[in-house]
Amino acid sequence: MSTLENIVILTGAGISAESGIQTFRDAGGLWEGHAVEQVATPEGFAADPVLVHRFYNLRRAALGTVEPNAAHIALGKLQSEFPGQVTLVTQNVDDLHERGGASDVIHMHGELLSAFCTACNYRWREAEDLTVETACPACQTVGGPRPDIVWFGEMPYEMDRIERALQNCDLFVSIGTSGAVYPAAGFVHLAKTCGARTLELNLEPSQGSGAFREARHGSATQLVPEWVDSLL
Ligand code: OAD
Repeated sequence: MSTLENIVILTGAGISAESGIQTFRDAGGLWEGHAVEQVATPEGFAADPVLVHRFYNLRRAALGTVEPNAAHIALGKLQSEFPGQVTLVTQNVDDLHERGGASDVIHMHGELLSAFCTACNYRWREAEDLTVETACPACQTVGGPRPDIVWFGEMPYEMDRIERALQNCDLFVSIGTSGAVYPAAGFVHLAKTCGARTLELNLEPSQGSGAFREARHGSATQLVPEWVDSLL
């Protein structure tokens, strides 16, 4: 077997499900009651910023009621104990990877605990509610601040860094994601083309399951610690 030096892990909403954060596409998912266009597009924000701020304020506040689960903690342990490089990319906007001990997490879809100003692009950590009356701490523009979330039609963050990591990895692992949203859904193909082994850990076969060399199905809190223990 070839040596394992570089691992890239992609996580999605499924890894935080057992912490009590709803996924997007499962029954009872987060879009329920809201059209995606309303709360997850720049056009939706322009049309009704009060509604969009309220939606993300509730989700930001909910972070205080949840804890990292065994899967987040296992990945934190893997990052600190694995002798090679473990690049952790998440589509999640929660902070459960960090609270589970992970570091340098690439939040490709942004973070609830971050905000930026649409007037001057200043970006800052924000734990409190944002409203249409919030002033930018840098340029003071009232109503300039918005949640630092990558909405549909916007470019995910750090794509260059992610692509470089995928091109150089020996193993790509996808955890708790439906494979419904690009570009993340295409990572498996890039990793495979560049020679990596590929593994899916998900509750059920994802839309992209067939692209993985190996797939294990079950809950993240069971599968992820088992997989991490097998590597360490
Ligand atoms: P989805 O809701 O699309 O998919 C969650 C996946 O997790 C599904 O395949 C479930 O089967 C699986 N799952 C659920 N519970 C699980 C558990 N306990 N253990 C393991 N797997 C479980 O969420 P994402 O794929 O993350 O984008 O969605 C991708 C993006 O779509 C999100 O980042 C979000 C949304 O639009 C933005 O907000 C920009």
